Amino acid sequence: MHAWTDRRLLDLLAIEQPLLLAPMAGSALSAMAIAVARAGGLGSIACSSISVDKATEEVATFRAAVTARINLNFFAHRPRTPDAVEMARWQARLAPYYAEFGLDGDDLPPAGGRAPFDETMCAMVEAVRPEVVSFHFGLPPEPLLARVKATGAVVLSTATTVAEGRWLEERGCDAVIAQGYEAGGHRGNFLTDEMSEQPGTIALVPQLVDALHVPVIAAGGIGDGRGMAAALCLGASAVQVGSAFLLSTESTSVDVHRQALRTARDDNTAITNVLTGRPARGIVNRVMRELGPMSPDALPFPLAGGPLAPLRKVTEAQGRGDFQPLWAGQSASMAREVSAFDIARDIVDGAARVLRL
Ligand SMILES: Cc1cc2nc3c(=O)[nH]c(=O)nc-3n(C[C@H](O)[C@H](O)[C@H](O)COP(=O)(O)O)c2cc1C
Repeated sequence: MHAWTDRRLLDLLAIEQPLLLAPMAGSALSAMAIAVARAGGLGSIACSSISVDKATEEVATFRAAVTARINLNFFAHRPRTPDAVEMARWQARLAPYYAEFGLDGDDLPPAGGRAPFDETMCAMVEAVRPEVVSFHFGLPPEPLLARVKATGAVVLSTATTVAEGRWLEERGCDAVIAQGYEAGGHRGNFLTDEMSEQPGTIALVPQLVDALHVPVIAAGGIGDGRGMAAALCLGASAVQVGSAFLLSTESTSVDVHRQALRTARDDNTAITNVLTGRPARGIVNRVMRELGPMSPDALPFPLAGGPLAPLRKVTEAQGRGDFQPLWAGQSASMAREVSAFDIARDIVDGAARVLRL
């Protein structure tokens, strides 16, 4: 038991250690959440790319394994339907690849999954009653948010700037996740699309702490106890860690993602929009290098990913991750191939050591 000096988030979330498992669509389910909860942190389950039935099942598995709080995470974007010109432009960019792999470019599949928080997901939250609900890309429409709050859930969302943090606090978020530029996966940005101006974690956290009344959770680039201690020194009440868990035994990442993670370095990730239509950080692969990493032609989120699916299928079968997300943050090389329980414990114990707690 460590004597953390800032207990705001520990008390709010009823956790022992100020460590949240980052929700990671495609890379983590209840097994990782259970491991982190057993280590005293908060387990999270990303619900944006699984069905409501699967999410319900995952929560039941979590509840059967541990008596601990759980965070369910959802996307809160407002989908936009592209016009025919935009569709044609993206198809034209991908046409050479379709030709290269002998695929039929006239029959492009829509992007599946990654739906925003809606009536059905809200009804699921009301039924399974997670103690914590977190959102990415802002917040859902007010009536849905009010229903989530009425369940008694603690509500979190991600800010990538101080302006976004203020916006979230004004709308009732109980704590704000400060996502620095280093972070793996989708950027949670929703008031700005200007990636060149996005602050890193060490700059963002203290400025958000000063601007907000609610506790701040630092995310992005935290790979071990040193990073966690630094974030707490900057005023964060807790940290949210993703990439450091990506090679854990409990990770559900596909093989090519795991292989790519083993090659991760400080300088081989980039922010790209070509894989889904929204900026996200991943290990640089062929499609990022050749069409991006940022492209004005990518369809709006999540549709850019639809026409990539057949290309992904062919190349993934050949053991290559050329056309799919290989999400990873700038500290992904610090990910270790051990249990998520050990990773969580080592991060927390390492931070306590640095802070002499
Ligand atoms: C593989 C992967 C998937 C992610 N998926 C989600 C998600 O579904 N929802 C979400 O809020 N954040 C998601 N994120 C972002 C994390 O919440 C968090 O901001 C990030 O992992 C922190 O940076 P780090 O990866 O350097 O630890 C994802 C991150 C990764 C690496």
